[in-house]
Amino acid sequence: MLKKTLALLFVGILAWAYQAIQPPPPKICGTVEGPPVTAPRIKLSDGRHLAYKEQGMSKDSAKHKIVFVHAIDSCRHDTFAGFLSRELVEDLGIYIVSFDRPGYGESDPNPKRTVKSMALDIEELADQLGLGSKFYVIGFSMGGQVLWSVLKYIPHRIAGAALIAPVVNYWWPGLPANLSNAAFNRELWNDRLTYSVSHHAPWLAYWWNTQKWFPSSSVLNLSLDVLSSEDKEFALLRERARKTYTVPA
Ligand SMILES: *[C@@H]1O[C@H](CO)[C@@H](O)[C@H](O)[C@H]1NC(C)=O
Ligand SMILES: *[C@@H]1O[C@H](CO)[C@@H](O)[C@H](O)[C@H]1NC(C)=O
Repeated sequence: MLKKTLALLFVGILAWAYQAIQPPPPKICGTVEGPPVTAPRIKLSDGRHLAYKEQGMSKDSAKHKIVFVHAIDSCRHDTFAGFLSRELVEDLGIYIVSFDRPGYGESDPNPKRTVKSMALDIEELADQLGLGSKFYVIGFSMGGQVLWSVLKYIPHRIAGAALIAPVVNYWWPGLPANLSNAAFNRELWNDRLTYSVSHHAPWLAYWWNTQKWFPSSSVLNLSLDVLSSEDKEFALLRERARKTYTVPA
């Protein structure tokens, strides 16, 4: 009897643990259960939709056509375009298109996402919008990792690339190990834990980022503790801008 109860309890705990680490199914925009579609979107060759936002000059007269890749916990609205003056945009001839990365905002998730698929999505976006044979790319923060795949898989399409405050991979063999270690140890301990979970146990990442038992990522909990005073000012501007298009969870 005791054995049976223990076995049942064990199975129960396993089932609960399995549930807790599974992300909920996505709510697909434009379906009956999902939110409505409000953004312009392209349909990719595999049937997924990618939502985008065009800013700056018209692409026909622009000198610099830029595809902007947003950060974590962000969307197509989170670009620098809104902070640029009209004069600057016209002087430099800037056109910026940003897009919701798959699974963010109004873009369909890509359950088959790979490092390469992101680069090919960007190429398809550029082609469907008619950006020409070459375009520029900017990746902000976590958008930086997308640029590495763009540079690897579609370098012939890229006129120039900028990574702004990209997130570092502390396990990248291309960086000297002592440098990586020194930088890693300057992170707050809750962030070190978060990076370690994503590196060593990516299957736990959803649970880690949603649980309330341990302090987790300062980025995801929108803590300003990690920022310099100048960055704090910018972060507050950004938060204010976000209030204009986010809905409370
Ligand atoms: C890492 O090691 C190299 C070579 O030994 C040394 O020149 C460099 O100063 C070290 N960097 C750090 C951050 O310790
Ligand atoms: C949020 O981040 C701060 C540090 O940036 C940390 O001290 C705090 O414990 C975190 N809170 C949660 C709930 O994860």
